[in-house]
Amino acid sequence: MMKILIILLTSLIFVTPFATSGELNCQMCHGSHLQGNVVTGAPALNNLSTNYIEAQLNAFKQAFRAKSAKDQAGLDMRVVAMQLSQQEIAAALALVKKLRVTNASSKPSNIPASWQTCVACHGANGEGNDSLNAPAIMGQQPWYLFKQLHDYQEGQRGMEPADEAGQLMRQTSLLLSAEEIKQLSQFLGQSNKTEIK
Ligand code: HEC
Ligand code: HEC
Repeated sequence: MMKILIILLTSLIFVTPFATSGELNCQMCHGSHLQGNVVTGAPALNNLSTNYIEAQLNAFKQAFRAKSAKDQAGLDMRVVAMQLSQQEIAAALALVKKLRVTNASSKPSNIPASWQTCVACHGANGEGNDSLNAPAIMGQQPWYLFKQLHDYQEGQRGMEPADEAGQLMRQTSLLLSAEEIKQLSQFLGQSNKTEIK
């Protein structure tokens, strides 16, 4: 079992993210419907605005994210972001639009008290708000949300003075306890509606 896992993971690292035709393949890591994939650590993209995705590709390039060798998932994505041409970014954004789902939920259950802090920026239903650069978080993969909230707290994200959006979220993350992060991640992850195939 372990051996199979190692082979699988190694092939993931060495397979180039781009097909030989020059086409990019975001789906290889982010899933066939861009719904996220726990094996590669890549989040859902099919719920995010194209503005936010573009901003984050830039954030990876500028090293606003993945501040240490400890953050393998972040470093994996930085390698991809560094290679993308404008044309490939445009193609990726078109793919995101094509596979778009709305995971924002107006009737979530088990609402944690700490959720009230989030709605001012992320919207009443967690749908995101482009005017504040705040992404949709309702319906994102729970393990990814958990990692990001810890990344902000630990300074893997939101540390650079030029990264205003990241700094804003880092300040908020510092108010959260470990238990609240766990509850919020489970709560927000419950409405991911894309079937994993
Ligand atoms: C080699 C695997 C891999 C490939 C290929 C890949 N990604 Fe990623 N991507 C990741 C991982 C892992 C993360 C999570 C990084 C983290 O934990 O900080 C990520 C994160 C992201 C994020 C941040 C999302 C958020 O919610 O902040 C964006 C945007 C993104 N990827 C876009 C793309 C696009 C567009 C493509 C195709 C051009 C692509 N990725 C291809 C692995 C990959
Ligand atoms: C003051 C506004 C503000 C508040 C309040 C806020 N956020 Fe954010 N949040 C943002 C912004 C802006 C970003 C994008 C930051 C970046 O570019 O790194 C963000 C990003 C995130 C991300 C990363 C998502 C991804 O796809 O990578 C998570 C997770 C998150 N917020 C969760 C929360 C939770 C949970 C709360 C409530 C406890 C909260 N936020 C409260 C503004 C806010």
